[in-house]
Amino acid sequence: MIKKIGILTGGGDCPGLNAVIRAVVKSAIGTYGMEVAGIYDGFKGAVEKDFKPLNLDAVSGILHRGGTILGTSNRDNPFQYPVTTDGKTEYVDLSRQVLDNFRTAGIELLVAIGGDGSLSIARELNELGLPVIGVPKTIDNDLFATDYTFGYQTAVETARDALDKLHTTAESHHRVMVLEVMGRYAGWIALAAGIAGGADVVLMPEIPYDLSKVCQVITARANRGKKYSLVIVAEGAKPRGGEMVVERMVEGSTDPVRLGGIGNKVGAALEKCTGMETRVTVLGHLQRGGSPIGFDRILGTRYGVAAVEMAASGKSGIMVALQGSEIKPVPLADAVSQLKFVPLEHELVLTARRIGIGLGD
Ligand code: F6P
Repeated sequence: MIKKIGILTGGGDCPGLNAVIRAVVKSAIGTYGMEVAGIYDGFKGAVEKDFKPLNLDAVSGILHRGGTILGTSNRDNPFQYPVTTDGKTEYVDLSRQVLDNFRTAGIELLVAIGGDGSLSIARELNELGLPVIGVPKTIDNDLFATDYTFGYQTAVETARDALDKLHTTAESHHRVMVLEVMGRYAGWIALAAGIAGGADVVLMPEIPYDLSKVCQVITARANRGKKYSLVIVAEGAKPRGGEMVVERMVEGSTDPVRLGGIGNKVGAALEKCTGMETRVTVLGHLQRGGSPIGFDRILGTRYGVAAVEMAASGKSGIMVALQGSEIKPVPLADAVSQLKFVPLEHELVLTARRIGIGLGD
């Protein structure tokens, strides 16, 4: 039986991280008498040996809190770790140091809470011999092998709430309101929030858009007397034959591309082609912050409990996943083998089409 597990949160933060940490600590200590070490700031803490024991007090009162009590980092890959000497930064492989740090601290298994980037690192460490269990996190919901990542539904609620607010001002001013939401490669947030918030147009990375089709939807509405429209656009959306709008590159990040700007691009083009006044809102990190909704607190708690249960039963090299209504172990290798895009025939896509939401195609 494992006596001590380490836990870290890696990559962008996400509502529900603390719910997972709390569930891991409570069930590891309470059910199995294990010790838990918190690893601070993602894989940075694993390299720098920034560990502290997590007891029941440490996780008291955190269920409703956004962010992560452990801190996180979306750089600091131990396999290409930035080391600065004399003002010059080089990227070196310090993965063996991580294994040594865990060994000397008595950590026998790592619970890694992360998205595609962090779980890919966790998988590589697992291949070096470290027992690992992954927990799927990202507001983008684009991790393969699980129906839902925790945090996604909270982000959808935030985007839905923004759309509700934009709806009333759009109607008052007879404007087109464009809302840019997160979703680098997958349009799950845009699609779900668009349906929940009554968007007239949803643009997402999986369906490159034709601007004239978007204009048609808005103009047709105006001709019917609906002199306003709501457009939700995922940051990774792109025009047919065109590219995503890159805002900047983040050196040392597992996924260095940072997107941003598609909302303004679409807004300007729509104002021109529809002749209607248009305003753009970029929701940004509001989607990542704040208190998780009940769904994500429950899912995060289930994931945390399942991760410990699987650790106790000797499993490793797996990720806990939600499939249908059940939490199951899936090979970590499968989870990071590809991203989960919105399938073009997905029921949500068809639902959007049936109720007349324009998808730009
Ligand atoms: O992957 C999660 C995510 O929130 C993406 O939707 C977004 O593109 C990215 O992270 C933003 O990262 P950062 O916090 O580094 O700006």
